[in-house]
Amino acid sequence: MRRVIFNQKGGVGKSSITVNLAALAAERGRRVLVVDLDAQCNASQYLLGRHDEVTPNVGQFFAQTLSFKLKEKPLSDFVHATRFERLSLIPSNPELMEIEQMLESKHKIYKLAAALKSLQPSYDEIYIDTPPAFNFYTLSALISAQSCLIPFDCDAFSRRALYSLLDNIAETQRDHNPDLRVEGIIVNQFQPRASLPQRLVEELRGEGQPVLRSTLSSSVIMRESHEQALPLIHLAPRHKLTEEYSALYEEISG
Ligand SMILES: Nc1ncnc2c1ncn2[C@@H]1O[C@H](COP(=O)(O)OP(=O)(O)O)[C@@H](O)[C@H]1O
Ligand SMILES: [Mg+2]
Repeated sequence: MRRVIFNQKGGVGKSSITVNLAALAAERGRRVLVVDLDAQCNASQYLLGRHDEVTPNVGQFFAQTLSFKLKEKPLSDFVHATRFERLSLIPSNPELMEIEQMLESKHKIYKLAAALKSLQPSYDEIYIDTPPAFNFYTLSALISAQSCLIPFDCDAFSRRALYSLLDNIAETQRDHNPDLRVEGIIVNQFQPRASLPQRLVEELRGEGQPVLRSTLSSSVIMRESHEQALPLIHLAPRHKLTEEYSALYEEISG
């Protein structure tokens, strides 16, 4: 199973959700790979606990496709183990920004999809974290994935952005990847007692948008989890937010 966590908006919880679902899956015995496609490297830092440049990385994977003289190394050569059992990572790199236009003009949009498909037999679940944009890397991820999870942070701007985001997914399905399905909208940092978020979520459900039943509340434990580079299941296995993550994982795992 290949899942992409996608929302063009930043700060909605993509990296947090990617890492925590992946860590939960690994903890439950699944062989898991996280692919970080955001040049800001948040998911990589969260999983590795280091802020320096990590090599080999996904930037180098893409860069090598630009030179026909080099023999391309398989994507498996870019995988790092993490401190967590069964949880591996292909880290990101700021270089992604510099090579994006070249990758685009040389039509490398299917490179990641082909590489991830050949890696899939080694993993039960692959999670792809994306940058806050609809760019070359996001499109590469959407073409590579079978399912898409959309974090949503319950504000009115996000709601408007949600419709264009769903259009982008539909267009990608039609033009590139008929296997892609929207697995669901994840309501993150939900405040069930505040009236605006509650109404927003009800309206989305009323419109038939695929809002998942499980919601995630807001808690300072998330920042601590980032700071300590420990996913919630390892930092605070009995915390309310961790339990909500478990429920979410169960819901999407059927
Ligand atoms: N459930 C949550 N409760 C509290 N803070 C959260 C929660 N989810 C995410 N955050 C915080 O919000 C910020 C953005 O989250 P992040 O996962 O980096 O979003 P994105 O990848 O979409 O930019 C981070 O500082 C993170 O710690
Ligand atoms: Mg992020």
